[in-house]
Amino acid sequence: MWFQTATFYEIPVHAFYDSNGDGVGDLAGIHEKLDYLEWLGVDCLWLLPFYPSPMADGGYDVSDLTGVAEEFGTLDDLRALLDAIHARGMYAMADVIVNHTSDQHPWFQAARQPGSPSRDWYVWSETPERYGDARVIFVDTQDSNWAWDEVAGAYYWHRFYAEQPDLNFDNPDVREAVKNVVRFWLDMGFDGLRMDAIPYLYEREGTICENLPETHAFLKELRAMIDGEYEDRIMLAEANQLPAEVVAYLGDGDECHMAYHFPVMPPLYMALRREDASDIVTALEATPEIPAGSQWGVFLRNHDELTLEMVTEEDRQFMYEQYAPDPAMRKNIGIRRRLMPLLANERSQFELLHGVLLSLPGSPFLYYGDEIGMGDEYLLRDRDGVRTPMQWKGEPGAGFSTADPDRFYIPLVTDPDYAPEVVNVESQQADEGSLLRWVRTLLADRSRLPVLGNGSFALIDTGDPAVLGYRRTNDEADLTVLANFATTPRVVSLAAPMTEVRTGRSLGETIELPGHAFSWLAEHTGAI
Ligand code: GLC
Ligand code: CA
Repeated sequence: MWFQTATFYEIPVHAFYDSNGDGVGDLAGIHEKLDYLEWLGVDCLWLLPFYPSPMADGGYDVSDLTGVAEEFGTLDDLRALLDAIHARGMYAMADVIVNHTSDQHPWFQAARQPGSPSRDWYVWSETPERYGDARVIFVDTQDSNWAWDEVAGAYYWHRFYAEQPDLNFDNPDVREAVKNVVRFWLDMGFDGLRMDAIPYLYEREGTICENLPETHAFLKELRAMIDGEYEDRIMLAEANQLPAEVVAYLGDGDECHMAYHFPVMPPLYMALRREDASDIVTALEATPEIPAGSQWGVFLRNHDELTLEMVTEEDRQFMYEQYAPDPAMRKNIGIRRRLMPLLANERSQFELLHGVLLSLPGSPFLYYGDEIGMGDEYLLRDRDGVRTPMQWKGEPGAGFSTADPDRFYIPLVTDPDYAPEVVNVESQQADEGSLLRWVRTLLADRSRLPVLGNGSFALIDTGDPAVLGYRRTNDEADLTVLANFATTPRVVSLAAPMTEVRTGRSLGETIELPGHAFSWLAEHTGAI
């Protein structure tokens, strides 16, 4: 159950650290930065796709599902990295991207040939009318889920970019090949697999082609295989869906071990600007119980746009007005900005959201660079603006690479408020009052409180809509969390005299929370 108390940290390989000075981050670069990651106190490193890829979709368009992109290193570099991660008592997670491949993948190249015996590995049609009830996901660039292929003389199905044809899961050979991909990475030593774009595996006429029973049946088959052949490995579902559909990916404890809690993410941001936590309460109330042995993955930001696909039209407009006033900040149905710029560079808002994130039911996923408050370059192509090089030092090149910054795979942040001279690891490590040091302390506090990972969850009525309250309870501890989403101070009565577990401050039966403050509390007699 390591994943229930772990903190996850998301790393785009190309953007973390460049070990050989070619301007592209690499696996050996991550290896060199393990001291930092261990010092920070994260437990599981999620490596974004490192596979060979034409990079039409940031590496989510894979041309070899069991290889390593040349610019990132070799399979041996990866093995060495995994060994080093494990030697430090940490874990590693990789993406399994099997809903689709790159159109450059040999499977697609073979399937499209006239008369190909493997035509059936992908999803073809004579007309672009099939499966008309399925939505388009990348609405900014795609107007159909079908693309015409000259060589095949047919349309092929793609839920994302046209460069990403969907595999046909009705074909048993495809399912077998996918299982072998999973085995390959588990044999290599990965502890967890993030199942990318998992709602879309199967297509059926007359449905929206998402969350189909066949998809769940295949995931159960995969889980049974993993449980039968490996120990202590996990599957994480990336399913951006409404609560009832997301929870289905945990099955009866026989499907994925984890699923991202997409529904609670936008409400955290809405609550800040509305100075009212009701949207969070509604999302948590709508969240069904999850099977024993499973876990939510909670997050504030990631490498994609802040998705608004599953919120109401009214909330979507509110989010756009508040957080993406410039239309260029919007991408597909979401916002392509990083955490700190979303929060107007206000540390109190950052701290509030982390105090909540790290105590919500689930395991937190941090996005690289957010721990130092990195900014974005939202005018860059697609979602590249939130994937800029990690800022290690306040020097040209940001300590990311010795290459000429003009050669960086994605350019550095230039916004003067967030440029490397202002925002970097080195200066924040040296400064006890820095954001980075604050995050590190909070992570350490969390790891001393396993109840935050595995405890039960119950909302508390605080009597003030601006103040979110809940309890986390297990056999050893009973923790109360209060979080003030208003900018003004609020007084909340407590069930009993309590102690602030992070500061040791002793309280009576009330607490005054300054604007945007949170508190983790336990009764004086509590065992914490
Ligand atoms: C997931 C990834 C995203 C990618 C998409 C298609 O949503 O997070 O980056 O574009 O899948 O693979
Ligand atoms: Ca490199």
